[in-house]
Amino acid sequence: MPKRFLLPLLRLLPCAPFAWIFVLATGCGHSPGVTVSTSAPPVAVAEIRPASVAPEAALTQFHQTIGPILEQRCYACHGDGEKKGGLAFDELKTKEQILQNPALWLKVLRNTRSHIMPPAEKAPPTAVEQAALESWIKTAAFGLDPARPDPGRVTIRRLNRTEYRNTIRDLIGYDFDAEQVLPPDDVGYGFDNIGDVLSFSPIRMEKFLTAAQSVIEHGVPQSNKSIGTQLVLAKDFLPAESGLTNPDGFTPKNGEHLSFYEYVEVGHTYQAKKAGDYRIIVSAKIDGEAQPVDPQVAKVTYKSDGKAIRQFEYPWDDALYSVEDKIVHWEPGEHKVSFAIEPTKPELQPLRTRWNTASSS
Ligand code: HEC
Repeated sequence: MPKRFLLPLLRLLPCAPFAWIFVLATGCGHSPGVTVSTSAPPVAVAEIRPASVAPEAALTQFHQTIGPILEQRCYACHGDGEKKGGLAFDELKTKEQILQNPALWLKVLRNTRSHIMPPAEKAPPTAVEQAALESWIKTAAFGLDPARPDPGRVTIRRLNRTEYRNTIRDLIGYDFDAEQVLPPDDVGYGFDNIGDVLSFSPIRMEKFLTAAQSVIEHGVPQSNKSIGTQLVLAKDFLPAESGLTNPDGFTPKNGEHLSFYEYVEVGHTYQAKKAGDYRIIVSAKIDGEAQPVDPQVAKVTYKSDGKAIRQFEYPWDDALYSVEDKIVHWEPGEHKVSFAIEPTKPELQPLRTRWNTASSS
Protein backbone atom coordinates (compact mmCIF):
# COMPACT_ATOMS: atom_id res chain seq x y z
CA MET A 1 0.00 0.00 0.00
CA PRO A 2 1.46 3.37 -0.92
CA LYS A 3 2.42 5.30 2.14
CA ARG A 4 0.17 8.26 1.57
CA PHE A 5 -2.87 6.06 1.97
CA LEU A 6 -1.74 5.03 5.41
CA LEU A 7 -2.47 8.33 7.07
CA PRO A 8 -6.24 8.45 6.71
CA LEU A 9 -6.39 4.85 7.90
CA LEU A 10 -4.39 5.61 10.99
CA ARG A 11 -6.61 8.53 11.80
CA LEU A 12 -9.58 6.25 11.78
CA LEU A 13 -8.09 3.87 14.30
CA PRO A 14 -9.32 5.46 17.53
CA CYS A 15 -12.86 4.96 16.37
CA ALA A 16 -12.40 1.42 15.11
CA PRO A 17 -13.62 -1.23 17.53
CA PHE A 18 -10.91 -2.99 19.42
CA ALA A 19 -10.54 -6.66 18.95
CA TRP A 20 -11.09 -7.93 22.44
CA ILE A 21 -9.05 -10.91 23.42
CA PHE A 22 -9.96 -13.28 26.21
CA VAL A 23 -6.86 -14.46 27.92
CA LEU A 24 -6.94 -17.65 29.85
CA ALA A 25 -4.63 -18.69 32.61
CA THR A 26 -2.85 -21.30 30.59
CA GLY A 27 0.61 -19.88 30.96
CA CYS A 28 1.66 -21.22 27.60
CA GLY A 29 0.80 -21.11 23.94
CA HIS A 30 2.68 -18.95 21.50
CA SER A 31 0.69 -17.67 18.65
CA PRO A 32 1.97 -19.00 15.34
CA GLY A 33 4.18 -16.60 13.47
CA VAL A 34 5.67 -14.95 16.55
CA THR A 35 9.20 -16.18 17.07
CA VAL A 36 10.18 -16.23 20.67
CA SER A 37 13.86 -16.32 21.38
CA THR A 38 13.49 -16.61 25.06
CA SER A 39 15.11 -18.30 27.87
CA ALA A 40 12.86 -16.44 30.33
CA PRO A 41 9.87 -18.54 31.29
CA PRO A 42 6.40 -17.27 30.48
CA VAL A 43 4.45 -15.53 33.19
CA ALA A 44 1.29 -17.11 34.54
CA VAL A 45 -1.45 -14.83 33.27
CA ALA A 46 -4.84 -14.39 34.89
CA GLU A 47 -7.95 -13.63 32.89
CA ILE A 48 -8.59 -9.96 32.29
CA ARG A 49 -12.14 -9.48 31.15
CA PRO A 50 -12.90 -7.01 28.43
CA ALA A 51 -15.09 -4.64 30.38
CA SER A 52 -14.21 -1.51 32.21
CA VAL A 53 -13.19 -2.56 35.68
CA ALA A 54 -13.61 -1.03 39.09
CA PRO A 55 -10.40 0.63 40.37
CA GLU A 56 -9.83 -1.97 43.07
CA ALA A 57 -10.10 -4.81 40.57
CA ALA A 58 -7.86 -2.93 38.15
CA LEU A 59 -5.21 -2.56 40.83
CA THR A 60 -5.43 -6.20 41.82
CA GLN A 61 -5.06 -7.21 38.18
CA PHE A 62 -2.01 -5.00 37.94
CA HIS A 63 -0.31 -6.53 40.95
CA GLN A 64 -1.25 -10.10 40.11
CA THR A 65 -0.71 -10.15 36.37
CA ILE A 66 0.78 -7.04 34.81
CA GLY A 67 3.47 -6.41 37.41
CA PRO A 68 4.99 -9.89 36.96
CA ILE A 69 4.98 -9.50 33.15
CA LEU A 70 6.77 -6.16 33.36
CA GLU A 71 9.18 -7.59 35.91
CA GLN A 72 9.99 -10.52 33.68
CA ARG A 73 10.18 -8.66 30.37
CA CYS A 74 11.15 -5.11 31.19
CA TYR A 75 12.91 -4.76 34.52
CA ALA A 76 16.28 -5.54 32.94
CA CYS A 77 16.19 -1.97 31.70
CA HIS A 78 13.13 -0.39 33.45
CA GLY A 79 13.38 -1.59 37.03
CA ASP A 80 15.65 -2.85 39.78
CA GLY A 81 17.66 0.35 39.55
CA GLU A 82 17.64 0.52 35.74
CA LYS A 83 15.81 3.50 34.25
CA LYS A 84 16.34 3.42 30.48
CA GLY A 85 14.53 6.21 28.70
CA GLY A 86 13.69 7.69 32.10
CA LEU A 87 11.24 4.88 32.78
CA ALA A 88 11.23 2.54 35.77
CA PHE A 89 8.12 0.42 36.26
CA ASP A 90 8.91 -0.37 39.88
CA GLU A 91 8.55 3.31 40.66
CA LEU A 92 4.82 2.96 39.97
CA LYS A 93 3.65 2.48 43.50
CA THR A 94 0.47 4.40 44.26
CA LYS A 95 -2.96 3.76 42.81
CA GLU A 96 -2.79 7.12 40.99
CA GLN A 97 0.61 6.37 39.45
CA ILE A 98 -0.71 3.08 38.15
CA LEU A 99 -4.31 3.85 37.19
CA GLN A 100 -4.20 7.51 36.27
CA ASN A 101 -1.32 7.36 33.89
CA PRO A 102 -2.84 6.87 30.45
CA ALA A 103 0.04 8.61 28.64
CA LEU A 104 2.54 6.10 29.97
CA TRP A 105 0.33 3.11 29.22
CA LEU A 106 -0.27 4.35 25.69
CA LYS A 107 3.48 4.38 25.18
CA VAL A 108 3.74 0.87 26.63
CA LEU A 109 0.93 -0.31 24.37
CA ARG A 110 2.48 1.20 21.27
CA ASN A 111 6.03 0.10 22.07
CA THR A 112 5.13 -3.49 22.86
CA ARG A 113 2.54 -3.96 20.15
CA SER A 114 5.00 -2.82 17.53
CA HIS A 115 7.77 -4.97 19.03
CA ILE A 116 9.97 -1.95 19.64
CA MET A 117 10.05 -2.89 23.32
CA PRO A 118 11.76 -4.84 24.58
CA PRO A 119 14.64 -4.43 22.13
CA ALA A 120 15.30 -7.35 19.83
CA GLU A 121 18.00 -8.90 21.97
CA LYS A 122 15.57 -9.49 24.82
CA ALA A 123 12.73 -11.98 24.82
CA PRO A 124 9.40 -10.24 24.18
CA PRO A 125 6.28 -11.05 26.15
CA THR A 126 4.55 -14.21 24.97
CA ALA A 127 1.37 -13.79 22.95
CA VAL A 128 -0.66 -14.54 26.04
CA GLU A 129 1.30 -12.03 28.12
CA GLN A 130 1.03 -9.44 25.39
CA ALA A 131 -2.70 -10.00 25.13
CA ALA A 132 -3.07 -9.67 28.89
CA LEU A 133 -0.99 -6.47 28.88
CA GLU A 134 -3.04 -4.96 26.07
CA SER A 135 -6.31 -5.99 27.60
CA TRP A 136 -5.40 -4.53 30.98
CA ILE A 137 -4.20 -1.27 29.42
CA LYS A 138 -7.40 -0.83 27.44
CA THR A 139 -9.86 -1.78 30.14
CA ALA A 140 -8.16 -0.79 33.38
CA ALA A 141 -5.72 1.94 32.44
CA PHE A 142 -7.88 3.56 29.76
CA GLY A 143 -11.25 2.62 31.23
CA LEU A 144 -12.65 1.56 27.87
CA ASP A 145 -15.84 -0.46 27.89
CA PRO A 146 -16.95 -2.26 24.72
CA ALA A 147 -20.50 -2.17 26.05
CA ARG A 148 -20.32 1.61 26.03
CA PRO A 149 -17.96 2.45 23.20
CA ASP A 150 -16.49 5.92 23.07
CA PRO A 151 -17.64 7.44 19.79
CA GLY A 152 -14.70 9.81 19.82
CA ARG A 153 -14.63 13.54 20.07
CA VAL A 154 -17.30 15.72 18.58
CA THR A 155 -16.22 18.98 17.03
CA ILE A 156 -18.20 21.89 18.36
CA ARG A 157 -19.41 23.40 15.16
CA ARG A 158 -21.07 26.50 13.93
CA LEU A 159 -24.14 26.53 11.73
CA ASN A 160 -23.63 26.88 8.04
CA ARG A 161 -25.48 29.57 6.09
CA THR A 162 -28.51 27.46 5.29
CA GLU A 163 -28.80 26.12 8.82
CA TYR A 164 -28.45 29.63 10.21
CA ARG A 165 -31.26 30.90 8.01
CA ASN A 166 -33.55 28.01 8.89
CA THR A 167 -32.78 28.30 12.58
CA ILE A 168 -33.54 32.01 12.64
CA ARG A 169 -36.79 31.40 10.79
CA ASP A 170 -37.80 28.64 13.21
CA LEU A 171 -36.85 30.66 16.26
CA ILE A 172 -38.21 34.09 15.50
CA GLY A 173 -40.17 33.72 12.31
CA TYR A 174 -37.98 36.03 10.26
CA ASP A 175 -36.74 34.70 6.94
CA PHE A 176 -33.26 36.15 7.00
CA ASP A 177 -31.51 36.11 3.63
CA ALA A 178 -28.24 34.64 4.91
CA GLU A 179 -26.69 34.53 1.45
CA GLN A 180 -26.73 38.31 1.26
CA VAL A 181 -24.73 38.76 4.44
CA LEU A 182 -22.70 35.62 5.13
CA PRO A 183 -19.88 34.37 2.92
CA PRO A 184 -20.25 30.90 1.38
CA ASP A 185 -19.31 27.96 3.61
CA ASP A 186 -16.30 25.80 2.98
CA VAL A 187 -16.94 22.35 1.63
CA GLY A 188 -15.21 19.22 2.87
CA TYR A 189 -15.66 15.71 1.45
CA GLY A 190 -18.47 17.19 -0.63
CA PHE A 191 -20.42 18.44 2.39
CA ASP A 192 -20.89 21.94 3.75
CA ASN A 193 -21.93 20.86 7.24
CA ILE A 194 -18.78 19.22 8.52
CA GLY A 195 -17.70 20.71 11.83
CA ASP A 196 -14.00 20.40 11.13
CA VAL A 197 -14.39 22.34 7.89
CA LEU A 198 -16.76 25.06 9.12
CA SER A 199 -14.03 27.40 10.22
CA PHE A 200 -14.47 30.74 11.93
CA SER A 201 -12.27 33.47 10.53
CA PRO A 202 -12.30 36.99 12.03
CA ILE A 203 -14.03 38.33 8.95
CA ARG A 204 -16.71 35.65 9.20
CA MET A 205 -17.17 36.53 12.86
CA GLU A 206 -17.81 40.14 11.81
CA LYS A 207 -20.32 39.00 9.22
CA PHE A 208 -22.13 36.92 11.81
CA LEU A 209 -22.34 39.96 14.08
CA THR A 210 -23.79 42.00 11.23
CA ALA A 211 -26.23 39.20 10.54
CA ALA A 212 -27.28 39.02 14.18
CA GLN A 213 -27.85 42.77 14.23
CA SER A 214 -30.09 42.64 11.22
CA VAL A 215 -31.96 39.61 12.54
CA ILE A 216 -32.64 41.39 15.82
CA GLU A 217 -33.83 44.50 14.03
CA HIS A 218 -36.31 42.48 12.01
CA GLY A 219 -37.34 39.85 14.46
CA VAL A 220 -37.66 41.60 17.79
CA PRO A 221 -40.07 44.47 18.55
CA GLN A 222 -38.24 47.78 18.72
CA SER A 223 -40.58 49.31 21.28
CA ASN A 224 -41.03 47.56 24.55
CA LYS A 225 -44.80 47.70 24.64
CA SER A 226 -47.47 47.67 22.00
CA ILE A 227 -51.09 48.28 22.71
CA GLY A 228 -53.60 46.24 20.85
CA THR A 229 -56.31 48.16 19.04
CA GLN A 230 -59.64 47.08 17.72
CA LEU A 231 -61.31 48.99 14.96
CA VAL A 232 -65.08 48.86 14.69
CA LEU A 233 -66.80 50.54 11.76
CA ALA A 234 -69.98 52.55 12.12
CA LYS A 235 -72.00 49.89 10.31
CA ASP A 236 -71.24 47.52 13.18
CA PHE A 237 -72.90 49.88 15.68
CA LEU A 238 -76.44 48.55 15.80
CA PRO A 239 -79.56 50.16 17.26
CA ALA A 240 -80.81 48.80 20.55
CA GLU A 241 -84.54 48.03 20.37
CA SER A 242 -85.46 50.42 23.17
CA GLY A 243 -83.33 53.26 21.86
CA LEU A 244 -85.27 53.59 18.65
CA THR A 245 -87.79 56.34 18.25
CA ASN A 246 -88.66 56.88 14.75
CA PRO A 247 -92.00 58.64 14.43
CA ASP A 248 -91.83 59.41 10.75
CA GLY A 249 -89.12 58.62 8.31
CA PHE A 250 -86.53 55.96 8.04
CA THR A 251 -85.19 53.41 10.52
CA PRO A 252 -81.42 53.42 10.71
CA LYS A 253 -80.02 49.94 10.37
CA ASN A 254 -76.70 50.87 11.94
CA GLY A 255 -74.52 53.82 12.91
CA GLU A 256 -73.45 54.74 9.40
CA HIS A 257 -75.88 57.64 8.88
CA LEU A 258 -77.82 59.19 11.73
CA SER A 259 -80.18 62.10 11.41
CA PHE A 260 -80.09 65.32 13.47
CA TYR A 261 -83.89 65.02 13.80
CA GLU A 262 -84.39 61.64 15.38
CA TYR A 263 -83.47 60.21 18.68
CA VAL A 264 -81.49 57.03 18.12
CA GLU A 265 -78.90 55.07 20.00
CA VAL A 266 -76.54 52.59 18.33
CA GLY A 267 -74.09 50.40 20.15
CA HIS A 268 -71.45 47.78 19.82
CA THR A 269 -70.44 45.12 22.33
CA TYR A 270 -66.76 44.51 22.95
CA GLN A 271 -65.17 41.55 24.56
CA ALA A 272 -62.52 42.74 27.02
CA LYS A 273 -60.05 39.95 27.68
CA LYS A 274 -58.27 41.65 30.55
CA ALA A 275 -59.11 44.15 33.22
CA GLY A 276 -57.59 47.53 32.52
CA ASP A 277 -57.98 51.02 31.19
CA TYR A 278 -59.40 51.12 27.70
CA ARG A 279 -59.28 54.19 25.53
CA ILE A 280 -62.34 54.69 23.40
CA ILE A 281 -61.78 56.89 20.39
CA VAL A 282 -64.80 57.91 18.33
CA SER A 283 -64.36 59.43 14.90
CA ALA A 284 -67.40 61.03 13.34
CA LYS A 285 -68.23 63.37 10.55
CA ILE A 286 -71.03 65.90 10.36
CA ASP A 287 -72.09 66.04 6.81
CA GLY A 288 -74.67 68.72 6.08
CA GLU A 289 -75.55 69.90 2.63
CA ALA A 290 -74.03 73.06 1.36
CA GLN A 291 -77.45 74.71 1.27
CA PRO A 292 -79.60 75.45 3.10
CA VAL A 293 -78.01 75.81 6.54
CA ASP A 294 -80.00 73.69 8.98
CA PRO A 295 -80.98 75.35 12.29
CA GLN A 296 -81.10 72.01 14.13
CA VAL A 297 -78.50 71.28 16.86
CA ALA A 298 -77.85 67.65 17.77
CA LYS A 299 -76.88 66.42 21.21
CA VAL A 300 -74.50 63.49 20.98
CA THR A 301 -73.78 61.25 23.95
CA TYR A 302 -71.06 58.61 24.07
CA LYS A 303 -71.77 55.85 26.57
CA SER A 304 -69.89 52.99 28.07
CA ASP A 305 -72.15 50.28 29.50
CA GLY A 306 -75.06 52.70 29.31
CA LYS A 307 -73.29 55.42 31.30
CA ALA A 308 -72.59 58.73 29.58
CA ILE A 309 -68.88 59.33 29.26
CA ARG A 310 -68.88 62.35 26.94
CA GLN A 311 -71.48 64.69 25.61
CA PHE A 312 -71.41 67.31 22.84
CA GLU A 313 -73.75 69.57 20.97
CA TYR A 314 -73.16 69.95 17.27
CA PRO A 315 -74.71 72.62 15.06
CA TRP A 316 -75.02 72.25 11.35
CA ASP A 317 -71.79 71.81 9.46
CA ASP A 318 -70.83 70.92 5.97
CA ALA A 319 -67.88 68.64 6.67
CA LEU A 320 -66.78 68.62 10.29
CA TYR A 321 -64.62 65.78 11.40
CA SER A 322 -64.59 65.10 15.11
CA VAL A 323 -62.34 62.72 17.00
CA GLU A 324 -63.20 62.35 20.67
CA ASP A 325 -61.66 60.04 23.18
CA LYS A 326 -62.19 58.87 26.71
CA ILE A 327 -60.44 56.34 28.92
CA VAL A 328 -62.65 53.91 30.83
CA HIS A 329 -61.85 51.10 33.17
CA TRP A 330 -63.19 47.72 32.16
CA GLU A 331 -63.17 44.40 33.90
CA PRO A 332 -62.90 41.32 31.69
CA GLY A 333 -66.12 40.50 29.87
CA GLU A 334 -68.64 42.20 27.59
CA HIS A 335 -68.85 45.95 27.43
CA LYS A 336 -71.12 48.04 25.32
CA VAL A 337 -70.03 51.27 23.75
CA SER A 338 -72.95 53.30 22.42
CA PHE A 339 -73.60 56.50 20.68
CA ALA A 340 -76.87 58.41 21.15
CA ILE A 341 -78.03 61.30 18.99
CA GLU A 342 -80.97 63.49 19.92
CA PRO A 343 -82.42 66.71 18.44
CA THR A 344 -82.25 69.64 20.87
CA LYS A 345 -85.09 71.42 19.06
CA PRO A 346 -87.88 68.87 18.75
CA GLU A 347 -90.25 71.42 17.24
CA LEU A 348 -88.19 71.72 14.04
CA GLN A 349 -89.16 69.69 11.02
CA PRO A 350 -86.39 67.83 9.22
CA LEU A 351 -85.22 69.36 6.00
CA ARG A 352 -85.37 66.93 3.20
CA THR A 353 -81.76 66.38 2.37
CA ARG A 354 -80.44 64.56 -0.63
CA TRP A 355 -79.39 61.65 1.55
CA ASN A 356 -82.70 61.68 3.42
CA THR A 357 -84.53 61.43 0.17
CA ALA A 358 -82.36 58.60 -1.04
CA SER A 359 -82.82 56.52 2.13
CA SER A 360 -86.56 56.84 2.40
CA SER A 361 -87.26 56.05 -1.22
C1 HEC B 1 17.24 -4.11 26.92
C2 HEC B 1 16.72 -2.98 27.52
C3 HEC B 1 15.26 -2.76 27.50
C4 HEC B 1 14.25 -3.63 27.80
C5 HEC B 1 14.31 -5.08 28.23
C6 HEC B 1 13.05 -2.86 27.69
N1 HEC B 1 13.30 -1.58 27.30
FE1 HEC B 1 12.01 -0.11 27.10
N2 HEC B 1 13.46 1.17 26.61
C7 HEC B 1 14.80 0.85 26.57
C8 HEC B 1 15.56 2.01 26.16
C9 HEC B 1 17.06 2.06 25.94
C10 HEC B 1 14.61 3.02 26.00
C11 HEC B 1 14.90 4.44 25.62
C12 HEC B 1 14.80 4.51 24.09
C13 HEC B 1 14.87 5.89 23.61
O1 HEC B 1 14.73 6.84 24.40
O2 HEC B 1 15.05 6.01 22.40
C14 HEC B 1 13.35 2.47 26.31
C15 HEC B 1 12.18 3.19 26.22
C16 HEC B 1 10.98 2.66 26.55
C17 HEC B 1 9.75 3.39 26.52
C18 HEC B 1 9.60 4.81 26.09
C19 HEC B 1 9.71 5.75 27.22
C20 HEC B 1 9.38 7.15 26.77
O3 HEC B 1 9.29 7.99 27.63
O4 HEC B 1 9.19 7.39 25.57
C21 HEC B 1 8.78 2.54 26.88
C22 HEC B 1 7.27 2.88 27.03
C23 HEC B 1 9.38 1.30 27.13
N3 HEC B 1 10.67 1.40 26.93
C24 HEC B 1 8.65 0.19 27.50
C25 HEC B 1 9.23 -1.03 27.72
C26 HEC B 1 8.47 -2.17 28.09
C27 HEC B 1 6.97 -2.21 28.33
C28 HEC B 1 9.32 -3.15 28.18
C29 HEC B 1 9.03 -4.56 28.52
C30 HEC B 1 7.97 -5.21 27.80
C31 HEC B 1 10.62 -2.63 27.87
N4 HEC B 1 10.52 -1.33 27.57
C32 HEC B 1 11.80 -3.38 27.87
C33 HEC B 1 15.36 -0.39 26.82
C34 HEC B 1 14.65 -1.48 27.19
